[in-house]
Formats: sequence, C-alpha cells, structure tokens
Amino acid sequence: MKNDEVIDNVSGFAMPAASKFDVFNLFCLKNRTVVITGSAQGIGRVAAIACGKAGGNIAITDKDINAAKILEDELKDAGINAKSWELDVVIEDKIIEVFDSISSHFGSLDILINNAGTANRNPAEEMKTEDFEKIIRLNLTSSFICCRTASKYMFKNNKGSIINISSIMGVTGGGPAPNSPYHASKGALVNLTRSLANEWGERGIRVNSIGPTYTKTRLIKELNANKEKLDHIIERTPLKRLAEVSEMAGGILFLASDASSIVTGHTLMLDGGWSAI
Ligand SMILES: NC(=O)c1ccc[n+]([C@@H]2O[C@H](COP(=O)([O-])OP(=O)(O)OC[C@H]3O[C@@H](n4cnc5c(N)ncnc54)[C@H](O)[C@@H]3O)[C@@H](O)[C@H]2O)c1
Repeated sequence: MKNDEVIDNVSGFAMPAASKFDVFNLFCLKNRTVVITGSAQGIGRVAAIACGKAGGNIAITDKDINAAKILEDELKDAGINAKSWELDVVIEDKIIEVFDSISSHFGSLDILINNAGTANRNPAEEMKTEDFEKIIRLNLTSSFICCRTASKYMFKNNKGSIINISSIMGVTGGGPAPNSPYHASKGALVNLTRSLANEWGERGIRVNSIGPTYTKTRLIKELNANKEKLDHIIERTPLKRLAEVSEMAGGILFLASDASSIVTGHTLMLDGGWSAI
C-alpha cells in the first residue's frame, strides 16, 4: 500500500486517501526527458512549454535550428531545463544520432512526441506520386522511425510514453480542401498508435495520439485567410471556432504524464466536436 492510499475493508482493494492524494502530482514530469520533433513552432512549441512547465527536461528538435535555439533561450528564461538539436526527421541516421545525444545529455529519454508534419492540399487527380510519398515519409514513416529509436531507451526503464500528433483528418476524410496524402498518413498514424500500444504495452510503453482540429498555427495560414474555407470549418465544428494553439497543452500533458497511466492505444480528439458529427 502506498502512503496516499487506504484499504477498502470490503474488497481489500487500495483506494486513494482524500487527505493525501496529490492530484496535480499526476501531471508532474520531473526527471523525465521529453523529445518533441518539429517543436520550434506551433503545436510542438506548446508541447515543449507545457511539458517544461510540468518539470520535464525538454529536448527541442527541429529542422529549423535557428527557431529551435530561440525557443531554447525562451524556455531557459522560464526556468525550464531545455536544449535544442537540429533534426530533419526524414533523415533516419540523424534521428538515431540526435536521440543518442539527447539521452546522453539528460541521462534518459522517457517521452516522445512525434509532432513534425505537414500537408499537401492539392487535388488527388493532379498529385504526383513523389509528392504523395513525401507526405507519407514525413508524417508517417519518420514517426515510426522515431518510435522505434526511442523504444530502445524506454525499454531500459520499462516505462515510456509516446504521443503521435494525428489530426481530425486521421479519423475523417473531408474538410474544405483536398489533402489526400495528409488524410492517409494521419489515418495510418492512428492505427500505428494502436499497433505499437499492443506490441509494447507489457514492456511499460504507452502509445497514444491526439487528433487536433484546425489550430491557429502557420500550417493553416492559407486556410485562415480564405473566408469561404474558414466559414466552412467554423460551420462544420460544433464549438463553431478554430482551436487556439494553447488548447493543445492539456491533452498533450495528460497523455505524456502518469495522469493517463491506464491509457494506451487511444486517440484523444482535441477537435471542438468535429469528429462527433
Ligand atoms: N495546425 C493544425 O491545424 C493542425 C491540425 C491537426 C494536426 N496538426 C499536426 O500538428 C503537427 C504540428 O503542426 P503545426 O500546426 O504546429 O505546424 P507548424 O507548421 O506551425 O510547425 C511545424 C514545425 O515542424 C517543423 N518541421 C517541418 N518539417 C520538419 C522536418 N522534416 N523535420 C523536423 N521538423 C520539421 C517546422 O520547422 C515547424 O517548426 C503536424 O503533425 C500537423 O499535421 C496540425
């Protein structure tokens, strides 16, 4: 029995003791190293801030090293233990080298957030095979390689948490613009999440994903500037708005931390109800 528990005298099961149960501690990431791909901007940047504020050591990785360094300084100024690495996730050897360097620098690699990704909003009938494959490589294959590389460090402690950033487009196929390779990659990421959750559960690694709706980052700059498309998104969304990027923080921190210790293989929709229709 832990010291924040009492034993139920009928079932014999441990129950939390109200006077001692520290509910906010469930979200604490102290002594955990969090690697986030594509974290210089947007949702990855918010993930870095949220996990850093929760006490984690933050490994910022991005192909844009200048922007990553600016975030490193910002996090350090906020009292967060952070360091940045240049990493283009389509380069497999570089993933292996950078994850090794992160693990040596912080002493562990406990949480991976596969965030780097992009879209190609061109009609399917005009899509070149190489352009389709480019999106699959970045959004799906590179995420798999990052999972496989990170698992090596997580197996050492029989503990780890992986979050794949999917999308509402991982569970639906519509939207105001065509985006077929994006839909395909994000849908596959949802099922890759389930697959790895099954393979690695007994070794203590949880694998989950999030499904954001249209979120105010550079990725949707063009959609946001097109009134007709923006109106379509807002009308289609039960909450009748886009997501603020800061609204990704809660779901990410939940899945990264022990607050979700019984959750694996799940895709948490942060979508204003988009997938409820
Ligand atoms: N913004 C949205 O509406 C939205 C919705 C659902 C899902 N997502 C997903 O969230 C993730 C982040 O998107 P965002 O909106 O923050 O985008 P963003 O364009 O604002 O930021 C993407 C970041 O990834 C980096 N990046 C791009 N290619 C990379 C590569 N090959 N290697 C390493 N870093 C790379 C960029 O430099 C940038 O810092 C993506 O996977 C995206 O598909 C976004």
